[in-house]
Amino acid sequence: MNIILIGPPGVGKGTQAKNIIKRYQVPHISTGEILRENIKKQTKLGIHAKTFMDMGKLVPDYDVLGMVSRRLADDDCFHGFVFDGFPRTIPQADGLSKLLSNTDKRLDRVIVLKASDEIIIKRLSSRRSCNNCGRIYNLLFNSPKNDNKCDVCGEELTQREDDKPETIKKRLDIYRLQTEPLVNYYEKLDLTVFINGESGINSISEEIFQILDEID
Ligand code: AP5
Ligand code: MG
Repeated sequence: MNIILIGPPGVGKGTQAKNIIKRYQVPHISTGEILRENIKKQTKLGIHAKTFMDMGKLVPDYDVLGMVSRRLADDDCFHGFVFDGFPRTIPQADGLSKLLSNTDKRLDRVIVLKASDEIIIKRLSSRRSCNNCGRIYNLLFNSPKNDNKCDVCGEELTQREDDKPETIKKRLDIYRLQTEPLVNYYEKLDLTVFINGESGINSISEEIFQILDEID
């Protein structure tokens, strides 16, 4: 199963990807998470990427494509993947298509999640995440059982650097400008499915599972 999740920041790509991989046992490839991991480890890529991410800008295509190409070569991607936050530009989509054509893989579905800016801003300003296990919470909609501690591993929850109001606005603008054209790109290939990202987390997952259950 080879899936792409597209949608604006905060629409719930990471939240849904985690439910999808639990059910279908394919790896979750979030380019944002890989980049944040590189920042934590202070790698050359991480130090370079941070300057773009802190401003809400996209990391250059060349760096992201190199990172994805290395990740796709890992054994766990043999039976598929769920991309979250990649591709994000037309050159990235073209690059992915080249990478896949070098193997016998093809894309099965591109799931497009939608939500209003108002909902997105509310979700992102109340998002908290666990730096240790990656679980995502929300102080308003999906809160941890214990005050600011991860339910799974007990680690202190943190707020992402790029979830400041002015950076959220910038990320939304960049999404409209650079990433939204991909919807049309994949519509032409007859791969898109549109999902209302404003419903509850579980009802969105059920809707996605219905679509993915139909893939052979
Ligand atoms: P990335 O980490 O991919 O961030 P993003 O796309 O901006 O999206 P988010 O992770 O903020 O949101 P999400 O859709 O995953 O929502 P979530 O599930 O957390 O990228 C970060 C940065 O890295 C980019 O800005 C860029 O600089 C760089 N980057 C990454 N990939 C790149 C690429 N390919 N090319 C270039 N640069 C790249 O949910 C949000 C909140 O809402 C959570 O609190 C959650 O609990 C809550 N929530 C989720 N669903 C619901 C629901 N249905 N109802 C109520 N609450 C909900
Ligand atoms: Mg995410």
